[in-house]
Amino acid sequence: MRIDILTILPELMKSPFSASIMQRAQDKGHVEIHFHNIRDYSTNKHKNVDDYQYGGGAGMVMSIEPIARVIDQLKSERTYDEIIYMTPDGEVLEQGLCNQLSLKNNLMILCGHYKGVDERVREHYITKEISIGSFVLSGGEVAASVLIDAIVRLIPGVLNDETSALTDSFQDGLLAPPVYTRPPEFNGWKVPDILLSGDPSKIEKWREEQAFERTKQRRPDLLEE
Ligand code: ADE
Repeated sequence: MRIDILTILPELMKSPFSASIMQRAQDKGHVEIHFHNIRDYSTNKHKNVDDYQYGGGAGMVMSIEPIARVIDQLKSERTYDEIIYMTPDGEVLEQGLCNQLSLKNNLMILCGHYKGVDERVREHYITKEISIGSFVLSGGEVAASVLIDAIVRLIPGVLNDETSALTDSFQDGLLAPPVYTRPPEFNGWKVPDILLSGDPSKIEKWREEQAFERTKQRRPDLLEE
């Protein structure tokens, strides 16, 4: 997979991809992440990327010209499966959408700032608008980092133990059951006996029950779906 990120703050986005699973995914060739600084595509002498909004009102708007220049350039080089805009008024990100996006070859992600981008960018270039939740961040970069992390770990081969993505919370519509490791007792707090029983079918059944109970308690909405 190739991901092209359009941002005015590339430095804000580099560290989440420079360690652990995300770095390994790049080293192993599962994903290439390219940053494009929108400011480099501004043609005015101050390298402005924003302007006052028509009709008045507080807050600047990201201009269409530099963004159109980057997108046109990238589209002339390859075909994109999706051109995504990170925005609080987009479709709220869920595991199902992450699964779908993890199967794509080329994704472009535009990170918004200020009051957002000129609506014509959204109408004419963007194919999908994604929100990571009902709150407003100071820019789309952190949201894009969340999206990319959630997608990249699902690319086959990225996680060492393939089953560990399959047993994530949400993958089967339920939250994940509790997990424990050594020691079997700490401060008098014990690991449930069943996990030490060595009986795989009992353990499996216990995990299913726990996953169901936890979902019923914490996210009953998932059971309604
Ligand atoms: N940009 C600002 N807030 C955001 C959010 N909640 N999701 C996606 N992009 C955003």
